[in-house]
This record gives sequence, structure tokens and C-alpha cells, in this order.
Amino acid sequence: TALGVLAACTSEAGSPLILPTDPLVGQTEAARGGTGRTRSVTITATTGQIDLGGPVVSTWTYDGEAPGRELRVGAGDLIEARLVNQLPVDTSVHWHGLALRNDMDGAPHLTQPPIRPGETFTYRFVAPAPGTYWFHPHTGTQLDRGLYAPLIVEDPAEPGKYDAEWTVVLDDWLDGTGTTPDEVLAGLRQRGGHSMHGMGGAAAQQLTGDVTYPHYLINGRVPAAPVTFQAGPRQRVRVRFINAGSDTAFRVALGGHRMTVTHTDGFPVVPVTTDALVIGMGERYDVLIELGDGVFELVAQAETKSGAAFAVVRTGPGAVPEPTVQPAELRGKVVGYADLRPADSAVLPAKQPDVVHRLALTGGMMSYEWGINGRAGDLTNPARVRSGQRVRVEFVNSTMMWHPMHLHGHTFQIAGGPRKDTAIVLPGQTVACDFDADNPGQWMVHCHNTYHAEAGMATTLGYQ
Ligand code: C2O
Ligand code: CU
Repeated sequence: TALGVLAACTSEAGSPLILPTDPLVGQTEAARGGTGRTRSVTITATTGQIDLGGPVVSTWTYDGEAPGRELRVGAGDLIEARLVNQLPVDTSVHWHGLALRNDMDGAPHLTQPPIRPGETFTYRFVAPAPGTYWFHPHTGTQLDRGLYAPLIVEDPAEPGKYDAEWTVVLDDWLDGTGTTPDEVLAGLRQRGGHSMHGMGGAAAQQLTGDVTYPHYLINGRVPAAPVTFQAGPRQRVRVRFINAGSDTAFRVALGGHRMTVTHTDGFPVVPVTTDALVIGMGERYDVLIELGDGVFELVAQAETKSGAAFAVVRTGPGAVPEPTVQPAELRGKVVGYADLRPADSAVLPAKQPDVVHRLALTGGMMSYEWGINGRAGDLTNPARVRSGQRVRVEFVNSTMMWHPMHLHGHTFQIAGGPRKDTAIVLPGQTVACDFDADNPGQWMVHCHNTYHAEAGMATTLGYQ
């Protein structure tokens, strides 16, 4: 799992949770067909120094870059990804959002043995549906060191609808001068969360994160040395936003522009125009923007924290805005799930659920123990489903913080909302997610706050 907890209880005994691969896993994938094309890539998880545009940090990356190189394939292509582990610890790769075959899902101890230091593991699976995805380790807090990269599955029907396409990856970054994510987690556990002190109810209700970060990045750059996205005036651009942060939701806006949301978590929505977006950890949004003429700031404000990530959009001459600028759009309209409806192609046909699983998000900051139904990181007690069932999962959040909940291997439709694989569950809120059990195996369900997942907010969905 993502969980030290689990690693601790399985490391001696081996990997008791991994079941022999169900023949249904391969059959299900074969039944989906594919293009017959193969996209081969080698990805090396490695240690080293990288330059964030000023701060040089020692960290862990894919191939010496953060974000790692974007992987682009067509829908239905076979991905053959060789992961070389040059880290000093075990790792694995999870392909976030893809309804792929279970034994390639990259959840160590659950779907595969961990990839040991010095080892290589080849992932081989068909990328079923077009969209904006990403990949990252599913081991410990590695994601927060900078091991992440975009995965774009192209839609053969899409090209021509826009002039340019940008991938914008958001991240919260520790300083890398000695404080590792593992130490941060140990600190949270020892002291309890530090953000709660002195906060009144209303402020606490909005808390999205436990960790204070010195840097916020867009495509691996600090605001002082921003990335510049170029296009022509009045061109239409498709922007793919990915929040790869471990503990930070971002409020995103482009100065002087509105954005038309076209997809979330890879799936099309009925287009809606907005000033800003709030993007939780693990979530993706695709938007179309018709560009003005000049130089504009793209700002990703860390929600309920201070600090922002920053990039520049240029379609003509002009001075670069100050990285501290706050575009008015950040305080404008923000579309929420209730404003988004799946496009016809993404609608899950209405049906009564055959089984309902209530997953209570439990725990708190005081002892920094998070769980699901009061259990921390228990992967041996799956929410059970059978192939063919319509399943409803209700995430019930009675904690003081909000949690971006992610289900592997499936996409769900939020009641009254869009089709997604990661859903923010606000304090006091219950979010019902419906999906069809059509992808046999053992699948993780967890909070995409890396620190919450590591502290125990994770369970599994298991096919009987
Ligand atoms: Cu992106 Cu299980 O996570
Ligand atoms: Cu959480």
C-alpha cells in the first residue's frame, strides 16, 4: 500500500495479501480490445539534485526531472513501462485514474510485490479511456519527494478543437535541505497536527492541509523562475491541470480570462465556464481558454495556506507580472461538483445500487490518526463487491478536515455531479459515488492526502 502500516505487518511474513492473479483480470482486459499499438518506455526512479529555478534540492525523481517526462499514448494502446528502481527503498508505480488490469495497478503488497532497490519491473496494460491521468509511487510518502509525471491518453476524436495544449502540474514542495516527507510524517504523529491551534470553527472547517510548504510549483518551477506558456492571441488552448501535491489543494485562475471546464479526471463534462477552479490532491481538470493579447499570470493559490504557484502565459509583448499578483478571478466564480454534469458519453445509466458501502472517514489531528470505519490502513477487510453489480460507496466525513477520496480501477459518478476517480469530501459532508463493478481484482480506496493515507486513511474494494 501507500502505507507504512501495512508494510510493517507484511514485511516479515512476505506478501500475504497478494492473491494469484484471477484469470478474469486478463479476460476483462482482452474483452475491451485495443489498437494493437504498443508504447514502450523506460522510467528510472532515481536520487539526485534538481533545480527548481533557484533552489537546488536533493530529492527523488523519475529520470532526474520533476515532473517526470509526460507519457502520451492513444486510447487503446498497450503501455509497456519498464520501471528501474535506483532508489534506496522499495517502490511501485500506480497509474492514477486508469481502469487498467488489476495486477498492473501498482499497489505493493496488494497487487504486486514491492519493486526492491536495484530491481526492474515491467508494467503492461491497455490504456482504456482517453483523458488526463498521472502516475506516481504507491509506497510511503515517496510521492511528496517529486516522483510523479503526467500520463495523457489522447482521444482520436479530439484533435482540431484547439490550437495548443498545455499540461500544468501543480505541486507543494518541501525544502529538501534535510526535512524529508518521512520526517514530516513522524513529526505530525508525534505532535499531532500543528495547524489547528488557535483556529476557530469556521476556519478549521475549511482545513485542507496539515503541512506548511516553503515552495509551490508549476511544472517544477518556483514563482521566481516561472514557466512561460506561449501561444498566439485569440488562440484556443486546452489546459490540463493535474494536482500532484501531497497536502495542498490549489485555487487556480488565469488573470484576465475565464475558463471553460471540459473534463474532470479524464471524463468529459457538459462545458461550464468559470473564473477559478479548486483542485484537490489527485484531481485533474481540463479547460479550454480563449486567449487575450498580452502577458498574463497563471496563479495556483494554496487553499487555506499562504503561498502560491505561478506561471506566465504570453501571447504578445509585455512585462512579466509580479509572482505575487492575485488575479481578481481567484475571488470569482468557482465551479463545484454540483455545477458539473457528465457529458452524454460519460453518463452512468441510472440504476438502483445492488450494494451500498458506507465508508466513514475517521480520525483527527490530535494524535494524527486517520482511518476508515475506525480502522487504520486495514487492507484485509475489503468492501466486497461482485462482478456486474452496481455499487454505491458513500464517503461520510465527520472529521474537521476535508479529504480527496480516490478509488482505484474504476470511475464513479458522483450523485448529482460528474464522473470522476477522486472526489473531495468536505467536513460534515457525505458524498455518494456510483460505479459498475466491471474490473475484477483488489483495489485501493484512500485519501489522496499522502499524509492521511500513510497515517491510515486507506482501505480496499475486493471482488468476491
Ligand atoms: Cu494517485 Cu492510490 O493514488
Ligand atoms: Cu484525508
